[in-house]
Amino acid sequence: MTHRVEGVGVGFRIEMADALIEREPPEIDWLELHPENYMQRGGGFTDSLARARERWPFATHGLTMCFGNTAPFERSYLDPLRAFLRDLETPWHSDHLCFGAADGRMAHDLLPLPFTEEAVANCVQRFTEARDALDITLAFENVSYYAPQSEDGLVEADFVREVLERADGRMLFDVNNLYVNSQNFGFDPLAYIDRIPLERVVQIHVAGHLIEDEHLRIDTHGEPIGDGVYVLLERVLERTGPVPVLLERDNNIPPLDVLLDEVRRLRAIYDRATPKATRATRSTPARGEPVGAAAPVRAGGRP
Ligand SMILES: [Fe+2]
Repeated sequence: MTHRVEGVGVGFRIEMADALIEREPPEIDWLELHPENYMQRGGGFTDSLARARERWPFATHGLTMCFGNTAPFERSYLDPLRAFLRDLETPWHSDHLCFGAADGRMAHDLLPLPFTEEAVANCVQRFTEARDALDITLAFENVSYYAPQSEDGLVEADFVREVLERADGRMLFDVNNLYVNSQNFGFDPLAYIDRIPLERVVQIHVAGHLIEDEHLRIDTHGEPIGDGVYVLLERVLERTGPVPVLLERDNNIPPLDVLLDEVRRLRAIYDRATPKATRATRSTPARGEPVGAAAPVRAGGRP
């Protein structure tokens, strides 16, 4: 097996774990898991993870460490997370550029931040604090949102860029989230990409979304990937080079063969957009390593 997270992977969900482990489909290069579902647990979860690890490398993606919260992180979360990530040998860990709690109450949702200087400063401080505590390459993900932003603040892409550069961070670029936001709020996703320092992207997410009506798409992770998301993924990969791509499917999980059809379509895009000659030269910039030199970008980047 390869021990590198590269190529196309899927989210490791307990609903599909048995089918994956039994068949070991060669289309799948790596798996992503949410540590919250596996940390400090035993029984079937631990057994499934141990068996899957014999076959695939893992990257981790958290659900609760919203970098835009204002309360301090709890050591009772960070300490076991650090140990879990180390044991799993994940090359990086990611969570979301959003907020999910206020005044001690958890929203259990990934809520959008105001794109303001104050929010940038808070995210930079908390992202840095988390990275120091976890002592690992840390990335944040751009989220989907449904409320329009104040016209007084930054645009989303500039907000993301500011946090990335001031924190010297890495990004998990969710192409479906960008597509959904661009369609709901009528902006050009390619112009957004132009403003992001793509050499900082260590991983890409794609997923399906629900078309509620002409003006409202909802990021459900419960539908097949839309054609517009496939097209946008190809544009992003042409710019980033061979960044690992992860198919997120959390609801209405289909039979494995249906999922593998999507993985094969993603693979075809990945192969087309990132010629083999470029793959050996791109490596994940580790914490503290300057970006850019280790991660050549084929074209573009921040204007
Ligand atoms: Fe995502």
